[in-house]
Amino acid sequence: MRDNNYMTEPQSAPRATSNRSALPNSAIFAEYIASNWAEIADPLPQLREHAVFAAGRRARISALHPGQRLILPAGDLKTRSNDTEYPYRAHSAFAHLTGWGSDTVAGSVLVMEPTAEGHIATVYLRESAKHGTNEFYANPTIGEFWQGRRPSLAHVAADLGVATASLADFAEVLDSTDAHTLLVRDGDRDVTDQVDGRRTVYADTDIIDSDADSELARDLSELRLVKDSFEISEMRAAIAATRLGFDDVIADLPQIVAHPRGERLVEGTFNRRARSDGNTVGYDTIAASGAHACILHWTRNDGPVVPGELILLDAGIELESYYTADITRTFPISGAFTEVQRRVYEAVREAADAAFAVVRPGIVFREIHAAAMVVIAAKTAEWGLLPVSADQSLEPDHQYHRRYMVHGTSHHLGIDVHDCAQARRELYLEGALEAGMVFTIEPGLYFQPDDLTVPREYRGIGVRIEDNILVTESGAENLSVSIPRTADDIEAWLRGEARLRGEA
Ligand code: GLY
Ligand code: MN
Ligand code: MN
Repeated sequence: MRDNNYMTEPQSAPRATSNRSALPNSAIFAEYIASNWAEIADPLPQLREHAVFAAGRRARISALHPGQRLILPAGDLKTRSNDTEYPYRAHSAFAHLTGWGSDTVAGSVLVMEPTAEGHIATVYLRESAKHGTNEFYANPTIGEFWQGRRPSLAHVAADLGVATASLADFAEVLDSTDAHTLLVRDGDRDVTDQVDGRRTVYADTDIIDSDADSELARDLSELRLVKDSFEISEMRAAIAATRLGFDDVIADLPQIVAHPRGERLVEGTFNRRARSDGNTVGYDTIAASGAHACILHWTRNDGPVVPGELILLDAGIELESYYTADITRTFPISGAFTEVQRRVYEAVREAADAAFAVVRPGIVFREIHAAAMVVIAAKTAEWGLLPVSADQSLEPDHQYHRRYMVHGTSHHLGIDVHDCAQARRELYLEGALEAGMVFTIEPGLYFQPDDLTVPREYRGIGVRIEDNILVTESGAENLSVSIPRTADDIEAWLRGEARLRGEA
């Protein structure tokens, strides 16, 4: 649709779009395009399943902030260049507290207004524009001729189970902004500027209390540390879809190997599944073949996929609710590991298994990483890579083994791939695990091609295995365990054995 022929609104001042063909702007045209449209029935939807859970989350954040007005913008479209925008994604805290995901109307704002009993939630949104408005046909960013119909206020109220109001009425909220207003500051820059502007009206010099805003951000992050049953089932579904994406890549390997930029085909094949079965990818796919696997955030994905080498695929499908998987598998492109590849692979798997073995309610989050590091230190010492023993290397001021794995082992996962990022350290890294938490276990070993501390045969090998783990009342469940993960099972998967295609 976005091509050089499309029309734009009439403007006298030069602007980015002024080189494109002009929109008819006569009064006759305006009257003509406003007429002869059929009434479209708009039956109200049932309350969506997610809405009940979102209401529970709002109740919890309400209890933490009595008497305070909370403003959570979804955020508006973000410019990519000129008049093109990035794919829209609502702010995660907004999505979490409304249950609105990929179908969010851009620019919406959730306001939780304090009452004697708690808060009343209202979603302000840009409601459906009528055909008679100039916006309908003359505004490429939000006009319905360009972007499709927006739901009515009544539709969204029935769908999400909240009060709704026109975004035009949000100005009144801004006008009544005071020191008791807390804002999600990174949701929508315009809203943040306006709220801050209003706050300065309230005299005292330190009235722009961004510390209080940070407390809200922290609380919203911590609210997500323990997942509810809706979230857990969404994540199971995201992982199941992701597994299909990995299967697709394996099925396409002959074409991938034949292409000079095979990594791009890996990305494309996976992303096709993400768009068909989910909303999109939860983060940029890492398709890292050969030594690219040693570059932790390799997303350029422009290299070949060469038999004899390994490929590390770190990819996750995000559903329409925004919940995502975050899975890594590393597999031999030829179908079989070499002896040294298998040695490295199985060491990483042992580290992952050791980390998983300690997971249960009550342990401290960072103990998971510590358990993985015991194995990584032992293996690298056994192979003669460390200048000291494994025990000495594990001492906090040594850590020689970390040369080969500089990243952490685990992060919380959910509506964001790196979920709960603003949670306090004492609840995250130093926090005790609780049933319902979901996080990754993702140890790796990366031997850079120019690393003189490792024998030549290890250089250029990078392996990571990443699973998504749910803490249960009695221990833990590996939600991604059915995606093959031992060296033997990986090879059988590549051979196409039915047992490992999830068919038996
Ligand atoms: N894919 C990003 C990560 O594993 O954290
Ligand atoms: Mn990952
Ligand atoms: Mn991860």
